[in-house]
Amino acid sequence: MQRLSAPYIAGPTLADARGTVASLNAEGKLATVDVLGEEITRPDEARAISVAYHEVLAAIEQDLLDANVSVKLTALGLKLNLELCRGLLEEVVRDARARRTFVRIDMEDASCTDDTLALYRGLREQGLDNVGVVFQSYLKRTLADIADLADLRPNARLCKGIYLEPAAIAFQDGDVVRRSFVSCLEALIASGSYVAVATHDEWLLEESLSLVKGLGRDTYELQMLLGVREARASELVAAGHRLRVYVPFGRRWYEYSLRRLQENPKVAGYVAADVVRRLVPGRSPR
Ligand code: FDA
Repeated sequence: MQRLSAPYIAGPTLADARGTVASLNAEGKLATVDVLGEEITRPDEARAISVAYHEVLAAIEQDLLDANVSVKLTALGLKLNLELCRGLLEEVVRDARARRTFVRIDMEDASCTDDTLALYRGLREQGLDNVGVVFQSYLKRTLADIADLADLRPNARLCKGIYLEPAAIAFQDGDVVRRSFVSCLEALIASGSYVAVATHDEWLLEESLSLVKGLGRDTYELQMLLGVREARASELVAAGHRLRVYVPFGRRWYEYSLRRLQENPKVAGYVAADVVRRLVPGRSPR
């Protein structure tokens, strides 16, 4: 599992993440750093994850990295104690603000959506604006959520969504999820939000690029996961787009990788395809 996951994770330590981000920056790519740890079960583990985020923020400042952080609220204790999570998140956002950087709140499974959006609104209403949220186009509620938050002109990442959700609340058909993605992007642009378009799907990338065409370079960015479509990412940078790479690191790589495989068996196919490509040079398995 560790070998299969290697291209998608910077490594177990902060030094690994620093090195990976520095290399990405040298290629003209921005980064967002994720401390692996969503499977926590005790408050002290949530506190330890928040300490790790403060260390990442200090490293970003010290090394002059062009990077921010992405946090999963379950890793900060969302499912253990909402108030603990609120407090730890606010400290991370205030620290990031003092260091002139930014915190993206990842969106997790649908049981977290309401609390995540409410915590985000709470921070913004305290005047903290170096924080952003994620919308998932597979959820049927998402256009309504975008409308609800439009007054805040949120800095928004838009993705399809990775968790397995039931048909009652989530579109199951890939083309419907894509069309929803386009509608969500149109709504975010109309509300004047800064949008981070997070997809490796070529059709969606092209649609998104045509929607942001004519907007200023500083009103949107593209985002991809570490180790995925790196050549395409470099082309987009060369074409003048801001592109940010999601860089997970930490000792909990096993849980992260296993969870990704369990949540979305398609990822197992990507990993296998990647291995085949490296074993059989020149052959494209997909
Ligand atoms: P799709 O799954 O159709 O992939 C398109 C193509 O990209 C594939 O055919 C394959 O070639 C390649 N590809 C995609 N994933 C790959 C992989 N892991 N390895 C190798 N190749 C791969 N989700 C969520 O629920 N909450 C969140 O907060 C986030 N955050 C987030 C940040 C960033 C920067 C990205 C890029 C993605 C997320 N996601 C996420 C995950 C997202 O919801 C989605 O599940 C994945 O991006 C896969 O969907 P695509 O749009 O890339 O299309």
